[in-house]
Amino acid sequence: MNPFEYAPALESTSIVTIKDRYGLFINGKFVAPKSGKYFPTINPSTEKKLSEIALASTEDVDLAVKAARVAYVKVWSKMPAAERGKYLFRIARILQERSREFAVLETLDNGKPIRESRDTDIPLAAAHFFYHAGWADKLQYSGNGSGPKPYGVVGQIIPWNFPMLMLAWKIAPALATGNTVVLKPAETTSLTALLFAEICQQAGLPNGVINIITGEGATGAALVNHPGIDKVAFTGSTEVGKLIATSIAGSKKAATLELGGKAANIIYDDAAIDEAVEGIVNGIFFNQGHVCCAGSRLLVQESIQDEVLTKLKERMALIRLGNPLDKNTDIGAINSAAQLAKIKELSAAGDAEGAERWSPACNIPADGYWFPPTIFTGVSQTHRIAREEIFGPVLSILTFRTPQEAVEKANNTPYGLSAGIWTEKGSKILWTASKLRAGVIWANTFNKFDPASPFGGYKESGWGREGGKHGLSAYLKASN
Ligand code: NAI
Ligand code: MG
Repeated sequence: MNPFEYAPALESTSIVTIKDRYGLFINGKFVAPKSGKYFPTINPSTEKKLSEIALASTEDVDLAVKAARVAYVKVWSKMPAAERGKYLFRIARILQERSREFAVLETLDNGKPIRESRDTDIPLAAAHFFYHAGWADKLQYSGNGSGPKPYGVVGQIIPWNFPMLMLAWKIAPALATGNTVVLKPAETTSLTALLFAEICQQAGLPNGVINIITGEGATGAALVNHPGIDKVAFTGSTEVGKLIATSIAGSKKAATLELGGKAANIIYDDAAIDEAVEGIVNGIFFNQGHVCCAGSRLLVQESIQDEVLTKLKERMALIRLGNPLDKNTDIGAINSAAQLAKIKELSAAGDAEGAERWSPACNIPADGYWFPPTIFTGVSQTHRIAREEIFGPVLSILTFRTPQEAVEKANNTPYGLSAGIWTEKGSKILWTASKLRAGVIWANTFNKFDPASPFGGYKESGWGREGGKHGLSAYLKASN
């Protein structure tokens, strides 16, 4: 018997109240969409409907942008910065107080393990509000001149992989810098954004400062193309990022884009192997691999390949896949049928191109969307699974002989979001990091996040940075 088998430990869902239907959050109130249309949001681990969400039309987007403009001109831009900061502190504290409610709701709507929503997503979301609350009245020290100014109204579009955390990454700096917001969550994961709207009410945030409009890609496009938007902030696919860049070209609109990645996780032969194996697992299986900075390409030095593979397989056999509400679960459900189809399609391409697939024995639940933790060996740089973002629990393993070769292979991608380096030698870390073209580089760890640390990519991974002082400048027009 496996000594690490645990009895089920289900988190109760009684703390959350999910309404049958949600309107749009415009000008401080929940309102029915002018479109009259709603769409379902489901629990991806059961495929059961959780609620109905409003589908915002162009007319609804227009109302939200107008509310944000009025709030900007009449209230938010006139308020002393220290007062603005108080609202951010208040939101941060309420998020902490209601963190279990948020974690359970996120897990129900997204499919991620409760352990991750409880220990990562929600605490980090609160941390982003705390961090930015402190900046609100100190912007003249942020490196953007003595009197930096907000853009005005920002349109923000977020993805489904870290719904509440991405909301915090977008909203906290926008509010701290004095902008007002229209935010569109992803169509499969709107519920925590709608609960956040209730928190805005609870915090007494002036009407119209935050507006949440739910909907699909067309809703996002209507927001991007609305003439009343001064800046766009987007996290999602490189494909949509390019569409947005094209549609705002030649306009006054500023943009930050956080797009895809295909990060190299480099294991040198002098690395502490057991720690590196933990880092590999965390790098690719955290959040079902639905992570833009996931360590999805393992580059392992040839001489230690066998040892790393053996230990990795042993470790993967202990990964628990299943009910996301079970506190023991490591890998939850894939967020949607569409994403599962994409992971299956790319994995099949890996088989067809001659790579070798391996997964541990794994009980896949009958309902819901699931994919077992998977590795591919014998991967070459030309394989699709080495080039394209799979955005699932699938690791492509390549080897290298010299540090120079590791760096060349790591940089051989159109992306440049993140990378990992595992070695006992500090000098090797510095040499490698200076040669990697990636926005975030972890040494002897992976997937660590902090609101004070800027996050963003090179090349097709996007424009601009989020977090830290760099992230503030993305929401400010610099002055002298
Ligand atoms: P997506 O880029 O289509 O969706 C992200 C957000 O953009 C959603 O809120 C969506 O409604 C919105 N959107 C879609 N089309 C739009 C448009 N034309 N204008 C404005 N907003 C638009 O990503 P999707 O389809 O959910 O996932 C496809 C692939 O993208 C994934 O398989 C993954 O590889 C990648 N992806 C990367 C993310 C990242 O964090 N880098 C996050 C989500 C997806
Ligand atoms: Mg959903």
